[in-house]
Amino acid sequence: MRLSAAGADQAEELRRMVAARGPAARVIAVTSGKGGVGKTNLAVNLAVAAAQRGKRVILIDLDLGLANADVILGVQPRATLAHVLSGRREILEVLAPAHGIQLLPGASGLDSLANLGAPERERLRAAFDRLSRRADFVIVDTGAGAHRNVIEFAAAADEALVVTTPEPTALVDAYAMVKMLSREPDPASIRLVVNQAEDRAEAERVSQGLASVAERFLSARVDRAGYVLRDEAVPRSVRAKAPFVVAEPRCAASVCVRNLAARLVVGSAVPVERRGFLDRVFGFLRKGA
Ligand SMILES: Nc1ncnc2c1ncn2[C@@H]1O[C@H](COP(=O)(O)OP(=O)(O)OP(=O)(O)O)[C@@H](O)[C@H]1O
Ligand SMILES: [Mg+2]
Repeated sequence: MRLSAAGADQAEELRRMVAARGPAARVIAVTSGKGGVGKTNLAVNLAVAAAQRGKRVILIDLDLGLANADVILGVQPRATLAHVLSGRREILEVLAPAHGIQLLPGASGLDSLANLGAPERERLRAAFDRLSRRADFVIVDTGAGAHRNVIEFAAAADEALVVTTPEPTALVDAYAMVKMLSREPDPASIRLVVNQAEDRAEAERVSQGLASVAERFLSARVDRAGYVLRDEAVPRSVRAKAPFVVAEPRCAASVCVRNLAARLVVGSAVPVERRGFLDRVFGFLRKGA
């Protein structure tokens, strides 16, 4: 796509802005092929576990279908992303503090991001800019991956955490997600998390299998980020409206998520030189223009 003179000016200005604002937050998109595999629980608990290690974390609920990170965190948001997009609220007024993190509550039933009008896109751009300067990590719950939206957004992040369970249906969909992500221009590092694993051996079998198939048939590199065991404490804490790393810090799932946080968030898996997240999201947001 060729940019108009005004578009090129705007792109240049954005690049200057990104360069001037210093180190940006690392953006981790939590995504999946199949729905219901545990993305929201993972995004919430990973965010809280990173905050427990002293990181400034903002969790963005960008699941436009069924936004429910607020429920798992036990907060009742007064305003959501929808208020920001419509210009009724400033981004910082909407952030809801919970368990050491800041949540940008999602708006269920919003239209696709790509269908947003120019003013909404500009507000979203400005909101991301402000947020990424106030955090070490921005963790985004993107919703399941059938939508173009989700794929483009996840590909624009620094890291796309693809969540799957060991079930064949989830694995087939995770493979499809990896395929779509890897075909995006300048895609995020793809990392796999096996959720609801029976034991470590099962998780390793599953992740090794998917990584080698992706390498063989897609020439795509899939890092094995880790796994979370199946644990009754997860649904129990959802019912209690508290993240399991807080409600049941000693349970097996909490130990797994803290390990993941240590490796992903605190570890130095900084991606090789890529354009800034903002730059890429601007590109994504411009597509619908
Ligand atoms: N490790 C786990 N052990 C046991 N149950 C789990 C685990 N992880 C998630 N669950 C359960 O799986 C269900 C789905 O979890 P969650 O809502 O996080 O999935 P999701 O991928 O965000 O779903 P959606 O695609 O609808 O957004 C919940 O009932 C949750 O309690
Ligand atoms: Mg979810």
